[in-house]
Amino acid sequence: MAKKPDIRTVLKKIVNPEDENHNPSNNDSFNQVLDRARLGRRGFLKGSSSLAAAAMLGTGLAFAADSTKQAGKAAKASTALRFSFNPVAKSTADTLVVPEGYTARVLLATGDPLKSNVTPYKNDGTDNDFEVRAGDHHDAMHYFGLNRAGNGWDPNGSERALLCINHEVCEDLGFVHPNGPTNYGPERTEARPAIEIDKEVAAHGVTVVEVAKQGGTYVVNRDSRYNHRVTAATRCQISGPARRSPMLATAFSPSGEQTRGTLNNCANGYTPWGTYLTCEENWAGYFNRREDESTRTAKELASFKRYGVGNETSGRYNWSRAEAAGNTDLYQRWDVSKTASRANQDYRNVANTFGWVVEIDPFNPSAMPQKRTAIGRFAHEGCWPAAAVEGQPLVFYSGDDARNEYTYKFVSAAKWDPRDANRGMAAGNKYLDAGTLYAAKFNDDGTGEWLPLTLANPAIANYADYDFADEADVLINARIAADAAGATKMDRPEWGGVNPVNGDVYLTLTNNVSSSGGRGVKTPLNAANPRYYAEVKGETTSNGNVNGHVIRWREAEGNHAATSFTWDVYLFGAQADAAPDVNLSGLSAENDFSSPDGLWFSAAVPGLLWLQTDDGYYTDTTNCMMLAALPGTVGDGEAKMVNNKAVPINGDGDQQVKTYMGQAASPRVLSRFLVGPRDCEITGITESPDGTVIFVNIQHPGENSESSTDPALFTSHWPDGGNARPRSATVVITRNDGGKIAV
Ligand code: FEO
Ligand code: CA
Ligand code: CA
Ligand code: CA
Repeated sequence: MAKKPDIRTVLKKIVNPEDENHNPSNNDSFNQVLDRARLGRRGFLKGSSSLAAAAMLGTGLAFAADSTKQAGKAAKASTALRFSFNPVAKSTADTLVVPEGYTARVLLATGDPLKSNVTPYKNDGTDNDFEVRAGDHHDAMHYFGLNRAGNGWDPNGSERALLCINHEVCEDLGFVHPNGPTNYGPERTEARPAIEIDKEVAAHGVTVVEVAKQGGTYVVNRDSRYNHRVTAATRCQISGPARRSPMLATAFSPSGEQTRGTLNNCANGYTPWGTYLTCEENWAGYFNRREDESTRTAKELASFKRYGVGNETSGRYNWSRAEAAGNTDLYQRWDVSKTASRANQDYRNVANTFGWVVEIDPFNPSAMPQKRTAIGRFAHEGCWPAAAVEGQPLVFYSGDDARNEYTYKFVSAAKWDPRDANRGMAAGNKYLDAGTLYAAKFNDDGTGEWLPLTLANPAIANYADYDFADEADVLINARIAADAAGATKMDRPEWGGVNPVNGDVYLTLTNNVSSSGGRGVKTPLNAANPRYYAEVKGETTSNGNVNGHVIRWREAEGNHAATSFTWDVYLFGAQADAAPDVNLSGLSAENDFSSPDGLWFSAAVPGLLWLQTDDGYYTDTTNCMMLAALPGTVGDGEAKMVNNKAVPINGDGDQQVKTYMGQAASPRVLSRFLVGPRDCEITGITESPDGTVIFVNIQHPGENSESSTDPALFTSHWPDGGNARPRSATVVITRNDGGKIAV
């Protein structure tokens, strides 16, 4: 008989994968950084801020000559824009708060039907048909306008549209099951009911759903032929340089050309030909591996270690162990142990088929999703495009969300031809299957370099710690290639985006904290990740960069394919009443926040930036939130010494690290727009082409509930209220006067 230990006991033992450090490389070792910090400190004290500002100007000159015009335009755009809403107050209520004069409506929550013949979701765990319902844990999403004929993409289409919505995970608490999950968590070795596994597999992935404009807002069209789900069971094609690699051979696809499912679909991207890019983030924890390690090669073990695929674990979901399963292969595919004599007889390689950017054509439900291996394999947070320019390569930016991981960009080999805008997946084959993947090095002087991840780079070809077999191996083990190349460890890269006004690239670094101590204790500091001193619940702590920051850069000569750039820190998160050494951006009650995660530039209102939080450090004061921002430009602030006080590292006392900052954040340029219900994160945003409607996702309200079944122990009942189980949901936000959102 399956046992059911208290769900909170199980959950407490689950370590969030992004909070683990799997990067043992010496990139930016602490002593080197300490030396630089000391030098920087002397220079800073001697020259004071005028010298530092001059140095910043100097680094800025590289791009200034060619981008004066752009910067001028940016300054104009950001001064021209003004917020037209009053900031909302911080809140711990179980409600969704938007500014006065705005309305938020739930459009599509977990389990809601995607077809008109599907019954309403009962939200009691008895509905098992998630293949025809919205998945769980709504994350990134994108709006694709439908043309008048209703048969293809129209970027300006506002009457009808397809929303692509990521469903990152299935709620740990098991709200989708009648009585919570059975034999759940990595420590369980008993079998799980197949019905539970099937439901969880189907609750992951992507929803494609048609919405129609109605009275200034949008409603779901449940009769649309486009509505469908892509799940953790959907057959996917593997494309690009790693296709047919022996490292991708499985019993399902001995030639390494296909795999089943997309997993942990977190942030996203889109292409200039109207397809959706969904990105596989924390896939490593889904796999069972219980084996004698001497049966695996040193390279296999190095790869498992670097990506966090542990031994003696079943993954949190325990999907490989189904009781009373019909097609056992469906469950065995989650077991990466070596169980047969050949790789095409088991699933030892299946983890290599996850961690990719996956292209989906929303307008062609029968087109197989394509895993685009040229963009590299890691905990892919998203894949954000720079503007497509005719005759230039296409460029996409990505973050790898785990402690001390890297920032990446992909530059296509093919040059953009606007005639490809209607070619769908065929255009994907042309632009996304060949190109160069780079990892970023952020130098201490405010400049940076893009390091090519290819065997043509001698640091990779001659890397002593891992002998790369071929370019496929480099892409499959992109983290190891980036170690070899010398990329800069970052404080958990989450979302990125490109400012359409001036081409500046933004990236949130959500935080860098581990349960066993912060970055100050275990990991190095560098100029781009300079802070580990914080205040949490009124106490100062040296447990890491608790509140996170947002970095940004400008590519040399404004060319996104360039291999060098200039960077600064746009914003540091902090509570408003923290000491100035913590609240470095001068946040106030109208805009203080912690742990930035979602980041998205409006296309309808160029220069308007949205920031969303996924926080656990300021939640005694406020639930997670969304802020509107009017950012300036890279280099608009000055050099700054970050004082990390009295931190016991190397017995060395205070640590000072020089960084470069953007302007302070007054409420005129950063203002809180939304606060979510209890224990949620705000993630995912898109808009109607005219900017009068935004779509926002509320993920995992009630995440810290003490029970899966007892309403008295739920911390949220949003959005249904009463005694209901909480659900993730997409909400539609409109302005009551029909105007553009926020400005
Ligand atoms: Fe799924 Fe890093 O957020
Ligand atoms: Ca995120
Ligand atoms: Ca989260
Ligand atoms: Ca997050």
